[in-house]
This record gives sequence, C-alpha cells and structure tokens, in this order.
Amino acid sequence: MKLQWKEIIAAVDEALDRFLPPETVFPEEIHRAVRYSVFAGGKRLRPLLTVAAAQVFAAPLEHVLPAACAIEMIHTYSLIHDDLPALDDDDYRRGRLSNHKVFGEAMAILAGDALLTCAFETLAGEAPKYLPLATVVALQQEISRAAGTAGMIGGQVVDILSEGKPVEAKTLEYIHRHKTGALITCCIRCGAKIGQASAKELELLSTYGEKIGLAFQIIDDILDLTGDEAALGKKTGSDVQKQKATYPALYGLEAARKQAEKLLAEADACLEPFGAAAAGLKELAQMLVNRTH
Ligand code: IPE
Ligand code: IPE
Ligand code: MG
Ligand code: MG
Ligand code: MG
Repeated sequence: MKLQWKEIIAAVDEALDRFLPPETVFPEEIHRAVRYSVFAGGKRLRPLLTVAAAQVFAAPLEHVLPAACAIEMIHTYSLIHDDLPALDDDDYRRGRLSNHKVFGEAMAILAGDALLTCAFETLAGEAPKYLPLATVVALQQEISRAAGTAGMIGGQVVDILSEGKPVEAKTLEYIHRHKTGALITCCIRCGAKIGQASAKELELLSTYGEKIGLAFQIIDDILDLTGDEAALGKKTGSDVQKQKATYPALYGLEAARKQAEKLLAEADACLEPFGAAAAGLKELAQMLVNRTH
C-alpha cells in the first residue's frame, strides 16, 4: 500500500478515536465493545474512497474526516450485526473474535446501535466546522438513505430471506448492490458533494461507485471460497454453509471474476473525464478488485 493511503488511514484512525467516547466513560462496557470492533484493523476502504472522491475536487482532508468516519462507524455496526447468530452467525471478524463472542449478544446489538447513532452525532457535530450547513444536510441524507431500507438494510433483508433458496440473477444483483454497493456509492457521493461537484460530475462518479460497489461484493463472495482465513481475518466457507446467494454460486468462480473485471473496466471509464485528479479513485478500484483480503 502506498504511503499516501497509509497516511490517510492514520488520520482516519486518529479522528475515529477523537469522535468516539473513550473507554473510561460510563457505562464503560459499551465503549469497550464499540472500540473493540472499530479498532480491530479493518481496511478502511470506505473512508479512503470518500477522501479520494473529495480529492478529485482538491477538498482538504480535514473537511472529509467527519463524513468518512461516520460511514466507517456505520460499516462497523453493520459488521457487528451481520455476525450475530440471528444473521450470519460468524465467530471471527477483522482477525479477532466477533463482537458478540467477547461481549455477548446483548452488548453486540447495543454496540451496533451506538455506532449508528454516533455516526450521525459526529456528522452533525463535526462537519459544520468545515462545510456549509446545506452540504452537511445533503451528506446526512446520503448516509441515512444508503444505510436504510433503500440501501444496506434492504440488501441485508433480502440476503437473509434468500438463504437456502434458489435466487434469480435479478435478486442476487439487488442483494449485492444494496447490502454493500449502497454504502460504497455513498462514500463517493459524499466525497463529491464535499468537493461541490456539479450534477454531471456527481452522476459520473455515482456510476463509478455503483460499479465498484458491486465488484467489491463479488470479490468478497469469491474470497469466501478461495481466500486465506488469516489474511481475511474471518472464516471462509461461511456462504456455502449458510447457503447464501452469491455470484460464484450462481455463475461459477471464473464467470464471477470476469464480471468483477468488467465492472472495474466500466468504473475506470467513468473516471476518464477527470484525468489526473481521479488517480486516487482509479488506484482504489484496482486495489479492491485485486485484493486478497
Ligand atoms: C466486509 O467489508 C463486509 C462487506 C461489505 C463485504 P470489508 O471487507 O470492507 O471489511 P473491513 O472493513 O476491511 O473489515
Ligand atoms: C455483508 O455481507 C454486508 C454487510 C455487512 C452489510 P457478507 O455477510 O458477505 O460480509 P462478510 O463476508 O460477513 O464480511
Ligand atoms: Mg451477511
Ligand atoms: Mg457475513
Ligand atoms: Mg461475505
């Protein structure tokens, strides 16, 4: 990973630490549970995408951090809940035991709730220090929509309802575009809005986001079959065990990989009009399709 990305991740981690209540604050147990999952070593892909989208318009890093951290908090909450016995029932995440295995199911549910709430507290409290209020409200709408039933929750619902059943291509695409694609597209749209992108620019970048969001989940499905558990930090084979609707299950491994590659090429084409300003987004798209974890 390039130094540039490492530096942005360090800034994101420092900001997350600042925006989340310390472990010493009462009731300590919930803050321990929240921080256990947030600081477990995620790739921070969503904050990186948000920053890279804002960089297209030369927006300063500190203007992006509140939204980037809010999205990472929501993503982490979605992982904590996704691993619960009532959902995917997975015992490992980000290289350590899942939140509920350490803190119990009740605390894991509450830690997810706390992170979702803290995301909007962070956005409302921190973003107005750098951005016009109209932009903050627009970000709030982008993030809440992407996280809700029109986005991530909608995808998670259909994912759960489809377990153990044959699914049509259309349903599978809905699941992936929503459970994962929506929040990834949201990162790009938030970065673009922070940079005061024009309607045309926003449209192009949104299409880029949709393409890489879908590709990202196809690769996640592939890695569940072919990946290395130590590198991934989570158990493989979980999708087969749960009879999940996945791209490799429906199309086969090779065709699934081809679809991810095609989406990457299409995403790349969306960046062309931005030239060198979109170099960061171009590199991230390649990283996420070629990743091994
Ligand atoms: C995992 O996301 C869940 C999906 C949406 C596929 P990531 O692979 O980005 O997980 P972290 O943040 O690096 O742990
Ligand atoms: C998770 O999809 C999507 C969200 C958490 C919203 P998966 O269930 O495939 O993610 P992993 O494989 O557990 O990380
Ligand atoms: Mg899941
Ligand atoms: Mg899962
Ligand atoms: Mg998965």
